[in-house]
Amino acid sequence: MTDLPATLAACADAVLTTADGRAKTALSKRCAEAWFAGRDAGTPMPIGTGNPPDNPARPEKPELLNPRDMPRRRPGSAAGRLALLHAVAHIELNAVDLHWDIIARFTATKMPMGFYDDWVKAAAEESKHFNLVCDVLESLGSHYGALPAHAFMWRAAADTRDDLLGRLAVVPMVLEARGLDVTPSMIALFQKADLPGAVSALETIYAEEVSHVAYGSKWFHFLCGRGDIDPKEAFHDLVRRYFHGALKPPFNEEKRAEAGIPPDFYWPLADEVSPAGHSRNTKP
Ligand SMILES: [Fe+2]
Ligand SMILES: [Fe+2]
Repeated sequence: MTDLPATLAACADAVLTTADGRAKTALSKRCAEAWFAGRDAGTPMPIGTGNPPDNPARPEKPELLNPRDMPRRRPGSAAGRLALLHAVAHIELNAVDLHWDIIARFTATKMPMGFYDDWVKAAAEESKHFNLVCDVLESLGSHYGALPAHAFMWRAAADTRDDLLGRLAVVPMVLEARGLDVTPSMIALFQKADLPGAVSALETIYAEEVSHVAYGSKWFHFLCGRGDIDPKEAFHDLVRRYFHGALKPPFNEEKRAEAGIPPDFYWPLADEVSPAGHSRNTKP
């Protein structure tokens, strides 16, 4: 086993430049363990200065396709369920890179240690999620890489590469919050198909993703407070600038509340009017 890099930012760069999914997530887990061991011992690893790649290294397979060219499969069919799990594995691998990227990319902005604790923990959880879903795929005779995957997963990261507040608004507070909206119906679909392995992987993911959204909201509000910025207005401006399209109800209002995102943050960006009458997004 090779030695880990000496700084947290260099660990993040090393994860981002590892292509194979199982190798990337194993390194991610080792880096997280080393970070928390240092924190517990009172000798934290220095943060250092990151030098993350524009795009994280990825395995040769899956083939990456424009979402419009992705094959359509009936969600209730066996092929549809495999495709859905494959898409979740792809999202989880991307999430591993997203959480290390926020650590490596914004080292010029001085942040409290808790910021790094949160994203290292989130990255370690995403690594576990990727492996859980890969294990389910393999138990069903498939594997990550067997099907094509969405090509534009890194777009939100690329668009916000110079804007930490924008990154927090779009990645944890929009994309990961969307995961909270859609996961319960996915769990129901796999319950109906009597696939307990998939159900339990998705239940773990659902339980742990709430905290990732909460970390986003926490550090978004922290930075707004530091800059004396109105958080709700800033959120609306940044999502309109960096997120392409309206947010899609129905929203999981209960879990979003648990994660610290109130309805007046997301309903004005939705393509429908909220039950409470929050205004429709009037931007084109
Ligand atoms: Fe995840
Ligand atoms: Fe996450």
